[in-house]
Amino acid sequence: MLLHKGKKINIAVFASGGGSNAREIIKYFKDSEKVNVCLILTNNPAAGVIKIAKESGIPCTVFSRENFRDGEKISGILSCFKSDFIILAGFLWMVPGYLLTQYKDRIINIHPSLLPRFGGKGMYGHFVHEAVKKSGESVTGMTIHVVNEKYDEGKIIFQAKCNINPEMSADEIASEVLKLEHKYYPQIIDKYIAEFTRKL
Ligand code: GAR
Repeated sequence: MLLHKGKKINIAVFASGGGSNAREIIKYFKDSEKVNVCLILTNNPAAGVIKIAKESGIPCTVFSRENFRDGEKISGILSCFKSDFIILAGFLWMVPGYLLTQYKDRIINIHPSLLPRFGGKGMYGHFVHEAVKKSGESVTGMTIHVVNEKYDEGKIIFQAKCNINPEMSADEIASEVLKLEHKYYPQIIDKYIAEFTRKL
């Protein structure tokens, strides 16, 4: 993987579920001259993101926990597709050390709360929104951060907030937060990559 100024940047998107963030990222970079979504990877053979990849004509691969842990297959496929950055979009497994080393400061995650609130192991998707509702918060939001070896503890790049009220269900909270995710995640990825490559 050779990163240099002016190179078109390839991003690989990891997703475990419906893939609505992956869809927004694909849409945003569709005609970009600077960034290309080169590959979608998922651990879930039933993930909605597989259909999204197919419809967008982007290669997609499904991998097992064993593949992910041992690393040869994942590293091989990422280098085969010349991926420069990894974007986690609703990806639920802990990122292993070999990827953190190979992609130091080049793995980005989105989390559906205002970290450090409601983060950590087991806090994902609806569990987050249920915990937020239970806590009686009047504000929640989303966080985009660099991935490190601890769940949801990497350097925060961006946060956006929305107001919530006690009448809202966890699903309604989720839908407000998802609107923020779709609005900001692609543009923040774009900005982060631009700043990262400017420093090269
Ligand atoms: C998103 O809300 C994302 O923030 C969350 O999973 C959802 C995926 O939705 N990620 C986490 O909880 C990670 N800890 P999507 O599949 O429709 O993009």
